[in-house]
Amino acid sequence: SARPLIDGFGRRISYVRLSVTDRCDFRCTYCMPDSMTFLPKREVLTLEELDAIGSAFVARGVSRIRLTGGEPLVRRGLIGLVQSLSRHLGAGLDELTLTTNASQLASFAEPLRAAGIRRVNVSLDSLDPGRFRQITRRGELAPVLEGIAAAKAAGLRVKINMVALKGLNEDEILPMAAWCAGHGFDLSFIETMPLGLVEEDRTDRYLPLTDVRRALQQRLTLVDSPERTGGPARYVRVAETGQRLGFITPLTHNFCESCNRVRVTATGTLFMCLGQESKVELRDILRHEGPAALDAALDRAMQLKPKGHDFRIDRRAAPPAVPRHMSMTGG
Ligand code: GTP
Ligand code: 5AD
Ligand code: SF4
Repeated sequence: SARPLIDGFGRRISYVRLSVTDRCDFRCTYCMPDSMTFLPKREVLTLEELDAIGSAFVARGVSRIRLTGGEPLVRRGLIGLVQSLSRHLGAGLDELTLTTNASQLASFAEPLRAAGIRRVNVSLDSLDPGRFRQITRRGELAPVLEGIAAAKAAGLRVKINMVALKGLNEDEILPMAAWCAGHGFDLSFIETMPLGLVEEDRTDRYLPLTDVRRALQQRLTLVDSPERTGGPARYVRVAETGQRLGFITPLTHNFCESCNRVRVTATGTLFMCLGQESKVELRDILRHEGPAALDAALDRAMQLKPKGHDFRIDRRAAPPAVPRHMSMTGG
């Protein structure tokens, strides 16, 4: 019954990533500078506004919403938002999920589950405490591992996301796969993307996932799998264990032709692509014009969705493809 959102290339938009805050308690080196400046709180949408935007998308046939940040669990009142958006589950919305760094997941796992979350994706780039600290700059590994354990204990399905970083966690690819297999967690590897300025040159840390695959194949038999979860990941199964491994390869393999997603920042900017500037500002429409205008803005936005990103990490000291950090657009 819903009028679906279809872009100018015929792609149906069924998935929205809704950023609830640009703030984070970590400062992952590939994500943001150590001295990151965050938005003034007054520019950030209220929980009611986030709910209104999420609900407007559900009314247009969006079946999956993922809450992101920054770190979504630093946003006060997040559980209330989850409870509220959960009213759409089974009524248009198939899945409400969260991507988190897990620093506070130990205390939030149960409330999230009770509020309607069934699955979380956790960013975890290293299982070594010193290295974890080096990558996240402010993160502690122990509470993150406790958070992941709490999620598992609460009955949440866990997927680990590991950004592949040359010279940093290269040697942890097999150990991470084994650790995830032992816990029954899915694992996805991600290529570092040129989003926003950071201190280091991402070229130095860029590890193409073809290398990750090769490292895995030294010990494991990988079988390409046709399964898709509606995201950019391509999957393999490990013949020895049945474990599923995902590869998110914006640099080495462009997956944009099957893109099904858009993103809303914590200030209500609708970005049509992670790697492009096309956008529509929803906040003022929502505040001053109301639901019908918001709905019309979604139609306008569909015509702006670009064919794809053109990320490249092949020139040292090249400016990032997009000036905004991942924490702004919500990954
Ligand atoms: P599921 O498939 O639902 O588990 O989630 P997902 O992989 O879509 O979400 P997740 O938050 O785990 O995303 C992992 C990372 O993949 C994101 O943070 C981005 O780094 C990357 N990613 C997700 N969607 C896109 C996309 O459309 N384009 C690009 N270039 N990267 C993406
Ligand atoms: N390139 C690739 N992945 C990134 N993430 C944050 N910044 C970048 C980047 N520049 C990842 C995090 C997390 C997810 C939300 O995005 O590690 O897994
Ligand atoms: Fe925070 Fe995630 Fe960025 Fe790390 S990658 S600084 S945890 S938003």
